[in-house]
Amino acid sequence: MDSSDFIDQSLKGMSASYLGVLYNVSVILNSTLDLKKTLSYLTDVVKNLVNTERCVIDLKKECCGVKRETYNFSENYITDLSETILKKVYETGKTLKLIDAQNHSEFKNRKSVKRLGIRSVLAVPIKWKDEVLGVIYIDNRRIVNAFTEREQALLEAIANVASVAIRNSQKYSTLNQSLKDIKSILSKGFFYTDRFLVVSDKMKRVVDEIERIKDKDEINVLILGETGVGKEEVARAIHVKSKRRNKMFNSINCPNLKEELFESMMFGHKRGSYTGAIKDHDGKILEANGGTVFLDEIGDLSPSLQAKFLKVLETGEIEIIGASKPVKVDVRFISATNKDIEEMVERGEFREDLYYRLAGYIIEIPPLRERKEEIIPLANYFLNLYSHDRNIKGFTSKAREKLLSYDYPGNVRELRDVVKRAIVLSEGDFITENDIVFGRRKKRSKKTYFDENISLKELEKVHILQVLEKTNWSMAKTAEILGITRQTLRNKIKEYGLDKFRK
Ligand SMILES: Nc1ncnc2c1ncn2[C@@H]1O[C@H](COP(=O)(O)OP(=O)(O)OP(=O)(O)O)[C@@H](O)[C@H]1O
Ligand SMILES: [Mg+2]
Repeated sequence: MDSSDFIDQSLKGMSASYLGVLYNVSVILNSTLDLKKTLSYLTDVVKNLVNTERCVIDLKKECCGVKRETYNFSENYITDLSETILKKVYETGKTLKLIDAQNHSEFKNRKSVKRLGIRSVLAVPIKWKDEVLGVIYIDNRRIVNAFTEREQALLEAIANVASVAIRNSQKYSTLNQSLKDIKSILSKGFFYTDRFLVVSDKMKRVVDEIERIKDKDEINVLILGETGVGKEEVARAIHVKSKRRNKMFNSINCPNLKEELFESMMFGHKRGSYTGAIKDHDGKILEANGGTVFLDEIGDLSPSLQAKFLKVLETGEIEIIGASKPVKVDVRFISATNKDIEEMVERGEFREDLYYRLAGYIIEIPPLRERKEEIIPLANYFLNLYSHDRNIKGFTSKAREKLLSYDYPGNVRELRDVVKRAIVLSEGDFITENDIVFGRRKKRSKKTYFDENISLKELEKVHILQVLEKTNWSMAKTAEILGITRQTLRNKIKEYGLDKFRK
């Protein structure tokens, strides 16, 4: 049975009962997940049930290449239709019924209404919660007051049933697209861990190195690379792939280490060892016993802390505050820096003995500009990761070109932030080149980046997001920097839906 037989049969005896009609309509509309078919079934249903000359089903956003389905419109149907009427329904979310458009104060002077001689119009929103997904539009160019109250009620009920079917079809197509994206990412590379994508030969070599040393516990690993290349991701990968994976991975940001708190933070203390020490406290190293401690930005460690770490590395012991004797620990140290640490050693700024202890094996991560084939797969991965329930299907080809044209001084992290920002800016199904905005370069003047295509509202959205990220989502600090109250900030976060970018 082809679709028109199916529809004809299902609609037979429709006048029998209103509920029966709606039941049959829902069966028809829910018989497919293909959006194009859903819309075509919907036009069939409308033209069968309502006495109309012509019919249009319009969708707010193009989805899977479908924006409109029409019945009885000329080839060039767009010029046959009053876009003003559709726009009004999208804006108000309410049914618009015109008894005689030629004499309607708001519409009679509209070019399309005049030119087409449109008389009766019934345009009903297809709504999902508060969002207008689309509009069912019917008109008659000869008869005044062509549509009855009953037909309006019926069309509104059909629109209700249609919204579920359209929403399901859209969701299905988005999921299908995400699946295709993931497949295409995987056809070019692989996820070495659940969050570490590897595509280029250069990064495959890094993975080979990780495989070689992951269980060579006696060798400490030093990871080198520019800012944002993925040093921490590599350190985590070493941990996750090693036998230590079931114990802790503790990441320590060396520039944040305070001299006076070092012992307490790293080694911990015993209860009663000083006023306020009401119970035993494990330091970062003991917490990660059996696991891994990651010393991030090791190049920023002060000389006295360098000496303290050296002692731990040499003895394999820590001195817990208030304990009678040192405690042996089994911890693997992985460190990382974006500084030229060998030069620092030569200049006497970093202890040579510590350097040799830490750099048992060096892994160097190449900058993103030297592995450009990873830009698009990583961008797709970040798009999937951060676009949540937005129906964004991918990047337009111009957007891809723009992504590839840049050299990313901030490497993968910068690409991630560019994609996050593009998601905030984008309004359609695809990220366009206008949504891709690169941050300022280090050497540029301090405050602005310029793109003439961005509206003030979009700029505000992005700026608030950037300040929130800079302050680690501190409401107080962000509000202070932006010069607004915390309440205003909370309202804006809500208005722009920024919460979903919080990590
Ligand atoms: N290959 C990758 N696959 C997926 N995500 C990645 C990859 N490389 C980096 N990232 C992501 O990019 C961001 C920056 O990575 P990471 O923090 O590891 O960089 P880093 O070299 O430690 O930077 P910094 O020098 O600034 O500390 C993180 O969000 C990380 O998850
Ligand atoms: Mg890091």
